[in-house]
Amino acid sequence: MTKRRAAIIVLDGLGIGPAPDTAAYGDAGSDTLGNVARAVGGGGLRLPNLEKLGLGKDRSIPGLAPGIRATAAHGIAQPASPGKDSTTGHWEICGVLLERAFRTYPKGFPIPLLDEFARRTGRGWLGNTAASGTAIIAELGAEHQRTGKWIVYTSADSVFQVAAHEATVPLDELYRACVVAREILMGEHAVSRVIARPFEGKPGDYRRTAHRKDFSIPPVGTTLLDRLAEAGVARVGIGKVDDLFAGRNIASEHTPTNGDAYRLIERALDTLDTGFVFVNVIEFDQTWGHRNDVAGFHQGLAELDAWVPHLVARLRPDDMVMFTADHGNDPTTPSTDHSREVVPVLVLGPKVKPVALGTRRTFADMGQTVAEFFGVTRLAAGTSFLREVGGGGGGGMTDLTARARDAMRHAWAPYSEFKVGAAIEAADGKVYVGCNVESASYGLTICAERMALGAAVVGGARKLKRVVVTTEVDPPAAPCGACRQLLAEFGLDLEVIAVGPTTERRWTLAALLPDAFTKETLDR
Ligand code: THU
Repeated sequence: MTKRRAAIIVLDGLGIGPAPDTAAYGDAGSDTLGNVARAVGGGGLRLPNLEKLGLGKDRSIPGLAPGIRATAAHGIAQPASPGKDSTTGHWEICGVLLERAFRTYPKGFPIPLLDEFARRTGRGWLGNTAASGTAIIAELGAEHQRTGKWIVYTSADSVFQVAAHEATVPLDELYRACVVAREILMGEHAVSRVIARPFEGKPGDYRRTAHRKDFSIPPVGTTLLDRLAEAGVARVGIGKVDDLFAGRNIASEHTPTNGDAYRLIERALDTLDTGFVFVNVIEFDQTWGHRNDVAGFHQGLAELDAWVPHLVARLRPDDMVMFTADHGNDPTTPSTDHSREVVPVLVLGPKVKPVALGTRRTFADMGQTVAEFFGVTRLAAGTSFLREVGGGGGGGMTDLTARARDAMRHAWAPYSEFKVGAAIEAADGKVYVGCNVESASYGLTICAERMALGAAVVGGARKLKRVVVTTEVDPPAAPCGACRQLLAEFGLDLEVIAVGPTTERRWTLAALLPDAFTKETLDR
């Protein structure tokens, strides 16, 4: 039984150089990792462990040898979605591309929109500018307390922020107003986040409280996390990933520092039996990128490098871990905002082949690879590189599992509620699928395997290689006697693989049907 585990560790803001459209975002010259390496002097970065993985092989980074033999599969990925924020980047990694970037409102929100907000919340508004949160409460706090009007503001990001004094507006009311704003700011005015920004104190001494709350937009398409959840694959979130997906199919523990995230990754790898770990490592962006703190950024890289061996030591034979980023945030440029950049792709694991993955056209290639790794339904975007890195078990088994699980979603099993999917791979590589179909008369029920076999026969197949049967239970169910008997028509060397949510079992048909009655019996 193979128990698969995979992780994607997103190093927030750790871009690795310009994308083809970086200049169009006003970010010409941004190269987060390259510029940090140049800025620290002394010949560049000393990151022996990341260097060994292959970090310096796909972009020239002072200090990192390009010619070393990498121990990880390595490449870079270009952003395909418009935008350069964390939500856009993480959605893309998970297979959801945006048609239009999230809207920003550097000159404030349209007045009719704010009027609707005021009407539905029963309070007027103040502000409506792009502003620093502390500055705008210092400026408008007293007027807000006198009039009871909301302080509305935004930033360079796609955010609608509502500030209110906790003694003037009860927290609950502030949160309810944010829910109203979230409803208004969809469709044409889809902003990435609505944020409640409560504060306390007296005029001249206002302070924000810890009761900040984010109301993020749910993903606009089916994510890797959705696909894993529907297949019953466990998901562990670390860092702010729950917020980025509005909590859909991911819960996570938040981590104020990178060290906190590393510790939680270690704990997850020490305890998780099987499943997917999705991590956001926040400080390259929040603590150092936005504050143009090159020295802090450099220190953070050294800390990451020193942690890599602790990660590697915890990997089991079949594990696959990816390091990547969601956008750039170059601390050496005058801008304190994100930058449009390509991101590193490093894939490690005891069995991962250290191949060159080249320049991937979308971050979604990573999510698609993880989808195939777990044998779940493919994502709408991305090209899997699982085969290049040598994962995926025996001969495309995971792909067959994905096809069987896809068929299983359509199973008609209202009486037993026991859904079954089957995918048969014929000798020529063609795949035929089936699902069970039940009948109110009970006895007429058709099994998934026999339906797939029927599809294979009517498709012209006569030589069969393997059948994957998926069920929603662990350990997975083996084919019933009737299915074994019918499958035997086409040879007892058929490989039979039963796959549950997290475990699999394998046999040959000969083992499942000893002393079989076959056409050879008739010929005797
Ligand atoms: N089922 C299959 O599809 N394949 C098998 O090999 C065993 C059973 C289905 C039939 C029925 O709809 C449900 O599982 C419960 O028996």
